[in-house]
Amino acid sequence: MDYAFPIIEADELAYVIKALENRVCASGKIVAEFERLFAEYEGVKHAIGVSNGTDAIFLTMRALNVRGKKVAVPAMTFFATVEAVINAGGIPVFVDIDDTYTIDPEDLASKEFDVVMPVHLFGITANMDEISRIAEEKGAIVVEDAAQAQGSERRGKKVGSIGKAGAFSFYPTKNLYTCGRAGAITTNDDELAEKIRLLRAHGEKSKYYHVLVGRNMRMSDPEAAILKEQMKKLDERVEIRRRNAKILIEELSGVEGVTLPPEEPPHAKRSRHLFPIRVEKPEEFVEKLNRLGIPARRIYQVPIHKMEVMQRINDPDVNMRAGFIEYPDYSKVVLKKTEELSEKTVVLPVHHGLTEEDMKIIVEGVKRVLKRNFS
Ligand SMILES: Cc1ncc(COP(=O)(O)O)c(C=O)c1O
Repeated sequence: MDYAFPIIEADELAYVIKALENRVCASGKIVAEFERLFAEYEGVKHAIGVSNGTDAIFLTMRALNVRGKKVAVPAMTFFATVEAVINAGGIPVFVDIDDTYTIDPEDLASKEFDVVMPVHLFGITANMDEISRIAEEKGAIVVEDAAQAQGSERRGKKVGSIGKAGAFSFYPTKNLYTCGRAGAITTNDDELAEKIRLLRAHGEKSKYYHVLVGRNMRMSDPEAAILKEQMKKLDERVEIRRRNAKILIEELSGVEGVTLPPEEPPHAKRSRHLFPIRVEKPEEFVEKLNRLGIPARRIYQVPIHKMEVMQRINDPDVNMRAGFIEYPDYSKVVLKKTEELSEKTVVLPVHHGLTEEDMKIIVEGVKRVLKRNFS
């Protein structure tokens, strides 16, 4: 049993070979085809293929000119969420989460910010109704970090299509993935899309003529070829993830010593990237599960505001923006729920390579370890 399932299937490989035979290795026709497909899937006007999810966030923040502005973010997420904001010159403002592992609207309402970036962590759809309402009241922009949530929805809309823009990662562990590096930005905003397209390729408006200081953050055609083929399987794979998560919910609800995330509300659909549970002694718990062959893990066990990088954010050796941007003292930040969840959370795999039988083995393993720990 594996933690993730980054298998590239034969039909996807065949399409890559076809792309290579056409001698299209750089960013070209197949990237444009994938962008069309992904925009259609997301129900947005534009999807822009880029080099990875971190660059998708960076390019969006850069295009929105967040330099010196406050960007509200959760602190229990992969560091890239915050790192990309800092690299674009933004000032992270950490917001607490609630039991869903996504931004707590009540805490958000108490903060000052220009942009808010909810993260749909583990494929759990953030409370976009409340987040959008609060952002509107404050005149702030919403950008979604949908890196872990291809296929998640809220009120019939795909995540990544609800805010001004959405950022996706196609890292090998994700719901839609390549063998290497790829990401995308989704938006309905023509101007923003145009600016991001320029920024991802050196700000080059016409051949060898540049209007913006950008970067080289393009997606390549072979990566797009894999993604294009995989798009056909995405919904089916999300359904397998949802079935696997359902087995965990049914079998582990009410079991002593384990806390599950709140139920999926009827107006939301979670694509189930990973399945988080809370236990009392997570380190020991994971070790025992691993010994049984169950690939559970602790992830994001140190919230970002507590990390050395944030404590030393004004050191130019740590952060190249130090000295140019004024940051708050992050050692004073307290996020009660974030700290509790980071400390207690263990993730279980639910990927499309796991069968119902595998899920029963995971359930039995969890119950066995809990029994030993708590009886
Ligand atoms: C929540 C979140 N944001 C951003 C990223 C960055 O994506 P990538 O690894 O493709 O740069 C990831 C990927 O792991 C992620 O999980």
